[in-house]
This record gives sequence, structure tokens and C-alpha cells, in this order.
Amino acid sequence: MSAIVITGGKPLSGSVRVQGAKNSALPILAASVLNAGQSVVGNCPDLSDVDSSIRILRHLGCAAERAGDTVTVNASGMNRFDIPESLMREMRSSVVFLGAILSRAGEAVMSYPGGCDIGPRPIDLHLSALRQMGAEICEEGGFLRCKVKEFTGCGIHLPLPSVGATENIMLAAARARGTTRIFNAAREPEIADLQNYLNAAGGRVSGAGSSTIDVEGVPELRGTEHRVIPDRIVTATLLSAAAAAGGEVTLTDACPLDASAVISVLTDAGCEITARGTELRASRRGTLRAMGRVRTMPHPGFPTDAQALVMAAACRADGVTVFSEKIFQNRYQHAMELLRMGADIQIEGEVAVVRGVPKLYGARVCSTDLRGGAALAVAALAAEGETELSGLEHIDRGYEKFEAMLAALGADIKRV
Ligand code: EPZ
Repeated sequence: MSAIVITGGKPLSGSVRVQGAKNSALPILAASVLNAGQSVVGNCPDLSDVDSSIRILRHLGCAAERAGDTVTVNASGMNRFDIPESLMREMRSSVVFLGAILSRAGEAVMSYPGGCDIGPRPIDLHLSALRQMGAEICEEGGFLRCKVKEFTGCGIHLPLPSVGATENIMLAAARARGTTRIFNAAREPEIADLQNYLNAAGGRVSGAGSSTIDVEGVPELRGTEHRVIPDRIVTATLLSAAAAAGGEVTLTDACPLDASAVISVLTDAGCEITARGTELRASRRGTLRAMGRVRTMPHPGFPTDAQALVMAAACRADGVTVFSEKIFQNRYQHAMELLRMGADIQIEGEVAVVRGVPKLYGARVCSTDLRGGAALAVAALAAEGETELSGLEHIDRGYEKFEAMLAALGADIKRV
């Protein structure tokens, strides 16, 4: 079993490039089956979740290859409409293949998806929307057997702005008969990226980034080229690391606007963060101040994916930070591990009260989910002594060359 060993307690310094966004690349790779041509997806991070998508595409009969940071998919040979349970369980995003496969093949068979254990993650909104668009879905023994003659555009009101459900509807609607209007759609930047991919492929999608998205169905989509946006949660990880450990870091190929909710919280806490084009410079020289109240919200609010990362920094801040986790029910598992490092955290339901301590100490800790694992590394950078972090399979799902990324900022980190 491999682990990462971090010797913390020294300020960071250096420059690192931000990888492409996992949560954009995954739905775009699923969307590539909507056309029978070739999709060239650039800035595609090299992660185990992206590997899982490539394996799903190959299972479906598509050609899918990676060369450097580009994944090329040729979906002309697609000849299956099922996804094996083992691949479905590898990640949550496997479920966005549902709308795409159904649209292309008229049939789909798959099990419920896997993904991080951060609380119940139902897919009722996905299924209800696809049914409203004409799909027949039979749920039996953990499997979904789905059929559709032709998706038909309609108005869909999402009771909450689910990212995955919004993506699934967009994929089902892209080649549907008529226009689909999604009310209360998710507004995350990854939704706008999917819109841009679909439009480059000949789709007619508008409104992404707002809460109403219109998808006018077109008879066919064509192959296209697309570059994935920068990963705003990796950006948040690196900014949190600089806040926790101190020093000065430069992030290149970033999208400062997409990370603005996190930038605002860290700036209030005493970090100096400046943006110039796609570059972000972050420094923290004085004491980190507590962040007051941090409440996770759908975009453009403070992202749930950054909660653990900023909490790791808050553990070392001067004063009390109160987190309210509003999106997922079980997203404080990292807090138990932070306690082993000397943090002072009390949790009651969706609220976590973090009292900053003067010192964190290195310890043996284990990632319980993707962002929680990265948060433990952030805390380790600020801790005195050596931290051994296991459970790396979670981190490898979302971070490309995690140790190299932090080593580029001067961190003393190695995988053993
Ligand atoms: C996406 O998950 C991201 N994953 C998550 O990132 C992210 O935390 C989340 O959006 C919120 O921003 C990907 O993009 C692959 P949701 P998703 O549907 O689509 C409830 C990471 O670390 N809900 O917006 O699964 C759900 O339980 C991952 O990269 C239903 O009730 O999130 C949750 O409370 C972790 N029924 C809320 O909506 C449904 O049918 C938001 O979930 C769907 C969702």
C-alpha cells in the first residue's frame, strides 16, 4: 500500500500549472458518444477517473486514446449500450453516460454509479428528467434498463440545481426532437464548458452559467476539438496550501474568476491574492486569520469541494471558523483525521466549528475521499514533523501527479 510522506512546517515558494478540470473532462468524454465522428479533447487531466471514462468508451466500441494531455475519441464504431458494474462503481460521473448512450443507441443498461462516500448521492433527478423526455426506465436489483424511441424536448424544473442531472439532461436533449428548457439548472463553470463542447460539435445550447438553459435539439452532431477549462478545485487546493503553509506561490493556466468564492474567503483571512489573466499569485506572510462563517452553496457560492481544503487552512488560523456544509450530508470525514494532527474541530450535524491552534503535528492519517485526502496534505504542509498519508486511490482520482505539483512549490513530499 503506497503512502505520501510530507515533512511540513516550511513556507511554499514556486510556480505550478493548474491541470484541466476533472469535472469538465468527464461529461465531455461522455458527450463524445453523441456523434459518430472524432472528438479531440485537450487539457484532459491524466487521472484514474479519466482512465475509467476511457475504459467505458472502449467497452462501448469507441476508439479512445490518450497522447500527452489530449484524449481522442472516435465513436463511429460504437456497438454496445451497456456499462459493466465494475466500471460504473469506479466513479460517480459514469452516470452521465446514461443520457448520452440513450440518445445515441436508444437503449442503455447500467448499474447505479459509485464515487466518493460523502453522503447519499441519489440519481432520482436524473431519472425523472430522462423519463419526462420520453425514456422508459426500469430499476431492478441495482440495475437500470432504459429505452427511448426518441427524446422529446420539454420544460424540466429541477427541485435543486444538480450538476450531474443538468449535464445528463443536456446530453439527452442535444439531439432530441424539439427544445428542452432546464429551469433551476446548475450554474457551475463545468456546465458552460459542456455547452461550449456541444456547440462546437454543432449543438444549439444557450444559457449555461445562468439558471435557465435552452437546448434546441439537432438531428446530428459532428466530431470536434475542445480544450477543457482549468480545474477550479485544484486551484483552491493550491491556494489553501499557500494559506496554510505560508510563503508565495504562482499558479499558471488558472481561471481566477471560477475560483473567486475561495479567493474571497482566503483574502479576508489575510492572504494576498492577485490575478493577471490566467495567472494567480498568492502569498501569506503574516498570521492567517479565521474565516468567520463559510457556508457551502451551489455555484457561484462557496463550493462544497473546497470546504475540506479551506478547513485544513482554518485549523492553523487565529480564531474560530464556522463551516456549514449544505450540499452533502457526510462531508466532514477529513475532520476526524485532522484531529489526529492536533486540530480543534467540533461537529454537530451540518456545522463544523474550527478553533485555530498555534501548531499542527505530523501524524499517520488516511484519506476517506478525494478532496478530504487533499485537505490532509494541505494540513501536513503546515504541520510540524512528518505526516504519512494513505488512501491515495482517492487523491489519484482527481489530482494529476499530486506530489510533483506540491514539490514544484517547494514542498518536502514523496510517495513511498
Ligand atoms: C458534482 O457531483 C461533482 N462531481 C462533485 O465533485 C461536486 O461536489 C458536486 O457536483 C457539487 O458541486 C462531478 O462533477 C463528477 P449534484 P454531482 O448532483 O453531480 C443531491 C469532486 O470532489 N441530488 O450537484 O453528483 C445530492 O445528493 C466531486 O470532484 C439529489 O438529491 O452533484 C446533493 O445533495 C465530489 N438527487 C446535491 O443534490 C439527484 O438525482 C448536489 O449534487 C442528484 C443530486
